[in-house]
Amino acid sequence: MTSKFFILFYIGGFLALFSIAVEAEILEDKNCISCHRLSAKDTGRVFTGPDLHFAGDKFQPNWLKQFLKKPELIRPSRLITDPNLLQGPNLTLHPTFLEEDANALTHSLMNLKFTGQIINPVTTDPLSKGLRAKIKYQFERTFGCISCHQSLNLAGKVRGGISGPSLVNAGNRLQINWVANWLKTPEIYIPKGRMPRYKMGSDMQHQFSRFLMTLKKEGAVLDNSE
Ligand code: HEC
Ligand code: HEC
Repeated sequence: MTSKFFILFYIGGFLALFSIAVEAEILEDKNCISCHRLSAKDTGRVFTGPDLHFAGDKFQPNWLKQFLKKPELIRPSRLITDPNLLQGPNLTLHPTFLEEDANALTHSLMNLKFTGQIINPVTTDPLSKGLRAKIKYQFERTFGCISCHQSLNLAGKVRGGISGPSLVNAGNRLQINWVANWLKTPEIYIPKGRMPRYKMGSDMQHQFSRFLMTLKKEGAVLDNSE
C-alpha cells in the first residue's frame, strides 16, 4: 500500500517536473530568450524587448494570446528608434504564431511569476462616475500621465506622448494588481525605470489601477478562450 503510494507519488512528481521543462522549452525553441529576459537571474545582457520574467503577474492571458497571433505596437517610440520596423512594405512588429503555438506560449508565459510580488489585491468593482471623472482629470492634468502614455480621448482617438508604453488598451492587457504594484514599487520590476515616482497613497494607487482597467480598445480582444 505505502510503496504503491510512493511509486505514484514519484511518477506524479516526475511528470510535473517534465511538464515544466517542456513548457519552458517552447519559449527557448521559439527563441524568445534572444530578445526577452525570462528569468530574473538573467542579468548580464541587454535585451531589445521588454522583460517577461513576471509576465504571469502582469498580463491578461487572452491579450497575450491575441498579441502573439496578431501583434500590436505598444511602444510607439520604436517607430523612431528601431529602423528595422520601417523596412519593407509592412511593419514587422513582432514574430507571429498560429493558434496552437500561441496557446502554448501563453500558457508558459502565464507561469512566469515573480515571487517577490507584494499582494494587496485591488477591488475589481467599477469606479463610480464621479470618481472616474476625478481620476481621469488627475491622469491627464494633475499628474500628466498622458505626456508619456497614449490613451483615448472622448472621441475615441489615440492621443498622448510616446516615451512610455501605450495605455490605450491597458484594461484588456494588464492585470489590475500588477498595475497597483507597479505604481507602488516599480523598482521590483525595473530596477532603474524611466517613469517618475509619484507621491500617491495606496488608496489612490488602487483608484488609478481601477481607472486604467477602464481603458479598452473596443473589439481588441474578441476571443475569450485561453
Ligand atoms: C527579435 C526580438 C524579439 C523576439 C525574438 C521576440 N520578441 Fe517579444 N517583443 C520584442 C519587442 C521589441 C517587443 C516590444 C513591442 C512593443 O512594445 O511594441 C516585444 C513585445 C512582446 C510582448 C509584449 C510585452 C509588453 O510588455 O508589452 C510579449 C508578450 C512578447 N513580446 C512575447 C514574446 C514571445 C513569447 C516570444 C517568443 C515566441 C517573443 N516575444 C520573441 C522583441 C522580440
Ligand atoms: C515622464 C514620462 C512618464 C510619465 C509622466 C508617466 N509614465 Fe508611466 N511609464 C513611463 C515609462 C518610460 C514606462 C516604461 C517603464 C520604464 O521604462 O521605466 C512606464 C510604465 C508605466 C506602466 C506599465 C506599462 C507597461 O506596459 O509596462 C503603467 C501602468 C504606467 N506607466 C502608468 C502611469 C501613470 C498612471 C502615470 C501618471 C500617474 C504615468 N505612468 C506617468 C513613463 C512615464
